[in-house]
Amino acid sequence: MTPEEIKSNLKGKHFLKLADFTKEELLFLIDLALKLKKEQNVGKTHRHLDGKTLAMIFEKSSTRTRVSFETGMYQLGGHALFLSKDELQMGRGETISDTAKVLSRYVDGIMIRTFAHDIVEELADNSSVPIINGLTDDYHPCQVLADLMTIVEKTGSFKEKKLAYVGDGNNMAHSLLVGCAIMGIDCSVAVPKNYEVKQEILTLAKDKAKESGAVIMQTNDPIEAVTRADIVYTDVWTSMGFENETEERLQAFGDFQVNQNLVKHANEDYLFFHCLPAHRGEEVSADILDGPHSVVFDQAENRLHAQKAVLTSLL
Ligand code: CP
Ligand code: NVA
Repeated sequence: MTPEEIKSNLKGKHFLKLADFTKEELLFLIDLALKLKKEQNVGKTHRHLDGKTLAMIFEKSSTRTRVSFETGMYQLGGHALFLSKDELQMGRGETISDTAKVLSRYVDGIMIRTFAHDIVEELADNSSVPIINGLTDDYHPCQVLADLMTIVEKTGSFKEKKLAYVGDGNNMAHSLLVGCAIMGIDCSVAVPKNYEVKQEILTLAKDKAKESGAVIMQTNDPIEAVTRADIVYTDVWTSMGFENETEERLQAFGDFQVNQNLVKHANEDYLFFHCLPAHRGEEVSADILDGPHSVVFDQAENRLHAQKAVLTSLL
């Protein structure tokens, strides 16, 4: 497919999960993100969304997602509206489908951060403008697009790479499995017993990997996952919405901290990734998070550029 064909395929699409995109489409978005980053850094304006509006619905907290989408829309010449659930009629019982239909009459795109993944699917089914998933209990595709961009930027390619994810079998684990499987990056996930990833998402990733040749596996042994990894990734032990399990999770995840003892099994020049926010002393030791292998703030910055590529292409 030519870049023009990819561009026209992406226009008007929803961005709900990475599995809905081909390797070519994700590479197109990453290339565009790198170009927009370069332009932004030299002060070249790119008002591709002049006069357009993005509605941003937040049912969970956010620092990076909110600020990067709002700033991104501004840099593209458009405008973003922050809508917290408590301030929307949705918080008082208006249906998701009515909300989607009404917002579609005003705005050019809707970003939503919410709980069940079904909510973003229902919003998309009833919206005439693109829906962007800003995190659900199952997926965090915007984060992993930015992470894939960071891998290209830091290492030059996806070839012969292994990513090890250590921690909870959560939304980040799911999106990393699928994103790596599509791009051809080997992905090993190490989780404690009873905190495994969803079986259907592991199966989906393994299916995608058949085409790319990526090796996808899950284990309960962090050392097995991290051995010879190029990228060591972790995330919080207690995701948003699971706060009532914090104490039992602290117990269950004790052996899954990314620290010097664990990373000695990774490749010497490994990179440390974390989607942030981080809890030093829990899922990662402070010396790793703040150490020379860590690229966490580059990942955070790349949210801005990757999402600008998504917004430009979809809207
Ligand atoms: N990584 C991420 O999505 O951060 P926020 O929760 O701050 O948006
Ligand atoms: N797994 C975390 C990611 C936060 C960006 C959560 O869902 O809270």
